[in-house]
Amino acid sequence: METLERFMEEWARVLGKGCPLLSKESLEDLKALAPPPGIPFREEPVGLEAIYEEIRACRACRLGQVRRKPVPGEGPLEPPFMFIGEGPEAMEDQQGKPFVGPAGELLTAMIEKGIGIPRSRVYITNVVKCRPPGNRDPEADEVEACWGFLVRQIQIVRPRVLICLGRVAASALLRTRLPLNVLRGKPRRFQGIPLVVTWHPSYLLRNPAAKRGAWEDLKKAMALAGLPPGKG
Ligand code: URA
Repeated sequence: METLERFMEEWARVLGKGCPLLSKESLEDLKALAPPPGIPFREEPVGLEAIYEEIRACRACRLGQVRRKPVPGEGPLEPPFMFIGEGPEAMEDQQGKPFVGPAGELLTAMIEKGIGIPRSRVYITNVVKCRPPGNRDPEADEVEACWGFLVRQIQIVRPRVLICLGRVAASALLRTRLPLNVLRGKPRRFQGIPLVVTWHPSYLLRNPAAKRGAWEDLKKAMALAGLPPGKG
C-alpha cells in the first residue's frame, strides 16, 4: 500500500491537481485492488539492471555453458565514452568485471593518464559477455547471441562517443570485414552516435609502437565528445 501511495504522490507531483487518476474515489478503487498487507509488490528491475539480470541468466550460446562469471559491463549513464572490447579473458571471467587484467591496466592508463578522466566516468563493456575458452576470437553465432544486449546497453547508456577496441568490436558494430587499419582514422557512426575505431590494448601490449596511433585515435574521440585535448 505504501508503494501505491508513493506512486500516487509522485504522479500528483508530476501532473499537478485535477488529474482524474488522482481523485479520492480512484485512489480508494486502486487501494481495493492492491494486494493484502504482507504480499509485497514485485519490483521489476529496469534499464541496465534488467539487462544485467538477463545476461546472468543467459545460456544462449556455448560460452554461457563454460564461463565462470558473465561480464556485463560497468560505468555511468551518459558518459563521454563507451569503450567496447572483444570479450572477457581469464581475470574478467573470475571477477565478473571488464578489463581488469593486463589489457585493462593499459586501458585504465589510456583513460586516466591519456584522456585525463577517472575510469569510473566511462562505460566499459565487450561484444560478448562470457569468456571464449583460451581467449579465442568469439564465433559469429556467439556475437549474434550477445548482440541484443550490446545494442540495448548503448541505447540506455547513451554515450557521447563509442570507441571500438580492436577488430572484433569494429566488425560487429560496423558490420564489415575490412581490416582494422582501414577502419581506423575516419570517425564513423552507429545509430547516430559517433564511433571511433582503435587498436585493442592487448595488441598495444604486444606492439608498443602502435601506441602513438592509438593516441591519435583517442584525440579524435575526445574532440567528438567535446573534451579538451588530454595529457597524452
Ligand atoms: N579483453 C577484452 O576485450 N575485454 C576484456 O574485458 C578484457 C580483455
